Amino acid sequence: MESNNVDQSFLDDVVDGLSQPQKTLHPKYLYDDDGSLLFEQICELDEYYLTRTEMAIMEASCDEMATAIGPDAVIIEPGSGAGTKTKLLLGALRTPAAYVPIEISDDALSRSTTILRKDLPKVRVFPMCADFTNDVDLPRDLPSHARRRVVYFPGSTIGNFEPHDRLPLLRRFRKLAGNEGGALMGVDLQKADTDIIFRAYNDSRNVTAAFTTNILARINRELGADFDLEQFTHYAPYDAKRHRIEVRLCSNVEQTVTIRGHTFNFARDEYIIAEYSHKFDISSFSAEMEAVGFRLSNVWTDKDRLFGVLFFQSDCQKATGSPLD
Ligand code: AVI
Repeated sequence: MESNNVDQSFLDDVVDGLSQPQKTLHPKYLYDDDGSLLFEQICELDEYYLTRTEMAIMEASCDEMATAIGPDAVIIEPGSGAGTKTKLLLGALRTPAAYVPIEISDDALSRSTTILRKDLPKVRVFPMCADFTNDVDLPRDLPSHARRRVVYFPGSTIGNFEPHDRLPLLRRFRKLAGNEGGALMGVDLQKADTDIIFRAYNDSRNVTAAFTTNILARINRELGADFDLEQFTHYAPYDAKRHRIEVRLCSNVEQTVTIRGHTFNFARDEYIIAEYSHKFDISSFSAEMEAVGFRLSNVWTDKDRLFGVLFFQSDCQKATGSPLD
């Protein structure tokens, strides 16, 4: 994007976040094309146990998952990214009616759609380039024989939302799934060994640092800001009380940054929070899902209980809030 043709909502969000007493940036802005590629590299790191653990759970149990979901389902995947786990799931479903990936990065969406159409030619794909944190209307031409809609949200992406943002998002998922639907959610679990969590977000090859710092490069490029990338350092401590990683960009020196006439002063060691990554307890997460009208149906975990894949059925009795179908 040209710097004189700015995305106003991106600029507003950045200015608003950096004007708070605790400077923050919205994590959705980590995922431009470069950020999405860097995130794919994170998923391959030995230290980033989440992806391979979830993949192993999917490989071991995708047939059971397919049985729980049933035939003729439309799989909706908000924030589909590379879609590697999805291929396993769709391949295990006997007669998937359609797959709807919803992805903010155009490049990531077309890459994954091309691969999926090649690898699973029988699955009808309806790609949607959209921000799933806003309301999204499903395509009107979904196959009429579809029996149910199931939201697939792997990777513990739900952990990147704070509790007050999680609830409206889960409500949206319930609306997308409808009254006959379901949700298959991948969640990183709370664990006694918090070191393993720390290492996953402070990797020795600094891929995560490059991923986080890319948000500043993006702000420079798209909003014409003057962040000096050398003067910010990625650090991601684990907050055991709140069960979450806090991804920080720490200012190495006292400095001033300008973005389109807005000036932001940084003290030395002051940091921007770029992302949280919450770790879950199955029963309290299920209570959150129940609050929006989903009932826990199946749990799959690895033997060390690092990660969980949870299947929820829509529960009309417990539905609260706005109309759901
Ligand atoms: C996408 N999300 C689930 C990742 C996580 O683990 O919270 C994002 C991430 N940030 C740094 N490393 C990975």
